[in-house]
Amino acid sequence: MVYQLNLKFIIHKRVIKKLLSIILISLVAVAGAKGQSAADSTLLLPKQDLQWWRDAKFGLFIHYGIYSIFGKGEWVQITQPVEDIEYEKLKDKFTCEKFSGKQWVEAAKNAGCKYMVVTARHHDGFSLFDTKIGDYNSVNSPAKKDLMAEYAKAAHEANMKLGFYYSPLDWRYPGFFFPYLYRRNAEELKKQTYTQVRELLTNYGPVDVLWFDGGSDNWLGFGGVSYNLDGIKWETRGIDKPYTGKFSWEPLKLNKMVRELQPKIVINPRSGWMGDFQTQEVDLKGKINDRPWELCTTLGGCWGWVPETAKYTMKLDSLIRLLVTVVCQDGNLLLNVGPKPDGEIEPLQVQRLKEVGDYLSKFGESIYSTRGGIFDVKWGGTTTTDKAIYVHLLKVPIDGNLSLAPSAKKIISATCLNDHSKVKFVQSAADIKLSKLVNKQNESDVVIKLVLE
Ligand code: GLC
Repeated sequence: MVYQLNLKFIIHKRVIKKLLSIILISLVAVAGAKGQSAADSTLLLPKQDLQWWRDAKFGLFIHYGIYSIFGKGEWVQITQPVEDIEYEKLKDKFTCEKFSGKQWVEAAKNAGCKYMVVTARHHDGFSLFDTKIGDYNSVNSPAKKDLMAEYAKAAHEANMKLGFYYSPLDWRYPGFFFPYLYRRNAEELKKQTYTQVRELLTNYGPVDVLWFDGGSDNWLGFGGVSYNLDGIKWETRGIDKPYTGKFSWEPLKLNKMVRELQPKIVINPRSGWMGDFQTQEVDLKGKINDRPWELCTTLGGCWGWVPETAKYTMKLDSLIRLLVTVVCQDGNLLLNVGPKPDGEIEPLQVQRLKEVGDYLSKFGESIYSTRGGIFDVKWGGTTTTDKAIYVHLLKVPIDGNLSLAPSAKKIISATCLNDHSKVKFVQSAADIKLSKLVNKQNESDVVIKLVLE
C-alpha cells in the first residue's frame, strides 16, 4: 500500500538531500517535455497576430535577480543549497547600480533582436517590479527601483517588442512542493500568480510576450514524496507520476485572463496550457514540430550570471551557425544573457551581440520574415520568401556543387550575398544545381540568393 503523503518537514534531512538530487536529475530528464501541456486551441492567437513573432526570428532573453549577486546561477538556492534566511538577505545587497533598461534594450537592438524577454520574477520569488504582494521586490530593496518599468519604457521608446518571464512556481511556498499537505498555502501561491500576472499586464503598457516557467502540473510537488507501507519507507513519487490532487493553476482561466488584459500577447507553453508556440531548451532535440517554435539557449553557458560566463561566451561563428540552423528549421532563437550583479551586461557579450547584429544587417533579408526550408547538417539549409530562396552554406561542399529540390517557380538569378558575385545554376524539373561554390573569405555563412520570378 502506498500513501501519497507529502511531508517535507518531518523527514530526515538526508532523505531530503537524496530526494533533491533525484528530483534534479528528473528535472533534467523532463526539461524537453516541460513545454508539452494541455491542448486547447480556443485561446490560441489568430495566425495574423502571431505573424510578427514568427517573422522576428531572434529575441534576447535576460535572467537577472538577486541570485546574480551570488554568481552561481538562478538555481543556487537548490543546487548549493542556500537556506532561505540567508538567501533572502541578498535583497539588502541588491543595488543594481549599473542597471539600465536602456542598455539592455540597446544591446538587443544592436544584436538585431526583434523582441526581448526579461525575468520579472524567477523561482526564488523576488520580483523586479512593483507588486502589492509582500515586500520581496526591487522597489523595497536598496535599489528602490521598479526595473520592469524602466525596461518597459526603454523597449517602448525603441520600438522593441516587450516580453516578461514570470514563474508561477515560488520556492518560498511549501504548498508548491507539497500541494497535498499544504493546500491552503498552494492556493495562496496561486493567488499570487494571478495577482502578479495581472499587475505585469496592467501597469506596463502594451506587453508583447508572456513567458511562463514552472507552472505546469508535472512540476507541481517536484515529484513529491510517497509513504510506502509495504516497504515502510519514504520514496519519491517520481516525475512520471505527476500530482493528481485537487490543486490546479487552472491554466485556461489564467491564460484567458492574460488574453483579456493583453489581447494580442504571445504566450509560451509553460503554464499548463499549450501556448501559442512550443519551446525547446538549450539544444535542439528530436524532430521539429509543425507548430511555431522557439529555441531558448544561453550565450555564455548560464541563465543567471556566473563569473565564468565571459570565458564560456559563444564565438561569433557558433552563434551565426546556431541562428541559421534554427531559422532554416522555421524556429526562433531566444538567446540569453545573465547581467552581472550590478545589472550591466558583460561587455564581451554586448560586443558579441553587436557582431551578430552586423551579420544580420548584412544578411537580414535571408533571416527575418522568411520561412524555413530544408536543413542538412552536411552543408546547411535554406530559408524562403515568396520572392526568393536563400541558400545558407555553413559548410561549402568540397567539390563546389550542390543539388537542391526542384522549385515550381522559375529562378531568374543566383547571387552570393557575401560578395555580390553571380553564382552558376541550372534549373530543371529534377533539381536546382548550383556549381563552383566557394567560401573565399572563410565566412561563417555563405548566402546565395535565388531570385524567383
Ligand atoms: C531552465 C532553468 C531555468 C531557466 C529556464 C529558461 O529551465 O532551470 O532556471 O529560467 O531554463 O528556459
